[in-house]
Amino acid sequence: MENTQKHIFIIGMMCSGKSSLAPVLSKKLDIPFIDLDMDLVSILGLDIQEIFNTLSEKKFRLLESTYFLEHIKGSQHIYATGGGLVLNKNNRASLSKYGITILLDTPIELIYKRLIKDQGKSRPLFIKSPNKENLKKIWNERKEYYAQCANLMIKTENKSLDIIAQEVIEYINQ
Ligand code: S3P
Repeated sequence: MENTQKHIFIIGMMCSGKSSLAPVLSKKLDIPFIDLDMDLVSILGLDIQEIFNTLSEKKFRLLESTYFLEHIKGSQHIYATGGGLVLNKNNRASLSKYGITILLDTPIELIYKRLIKDQGKSRPLFIKSPNKENLKKIWNERKEYYAQCANLMIKTENKSLDIIAQEVIEYINQ
């Protein structure tokens, strides 16, 4: 049987705060959350960098999409997605079909600072070229997809996770 309750999908660039927001929102709404990257890492027993190195980015995208498309047929969850999930056409179509999609809009400058601080952990696309120009390029390649998929866009700068979660809750309750 197909799930009838809509999921909440959190999308956005790497380090925009998706994985931090999901558990906060999960607690407030009492809906379980799934962090797609964390699940893939634990299933494969490899970190994201190792998946990219030993398998390839293409295989990572395939695994990410297969896992995502299979899971969304299940019960209602909040999803912290990987930054590149929107690159796949089927993923984009499923975001609108199966849920409400929240885009975290975080300035590149702030993303860059966070990435430098955690040394680009799990972000092979940044590690291979760790500069703002690369982040801008990634953003420019994806911004249309992000905008196309988002039901709500939240600017995150200078906002606590609680405030951001509250904005999501107000939107879904309206
Ligand atoms: C990616 C973002 C990462 C991870 C992988 C690819 C991307 O997830 O899925 O490194 O293409 O932007 P986060 O968005 O959680 O950092």
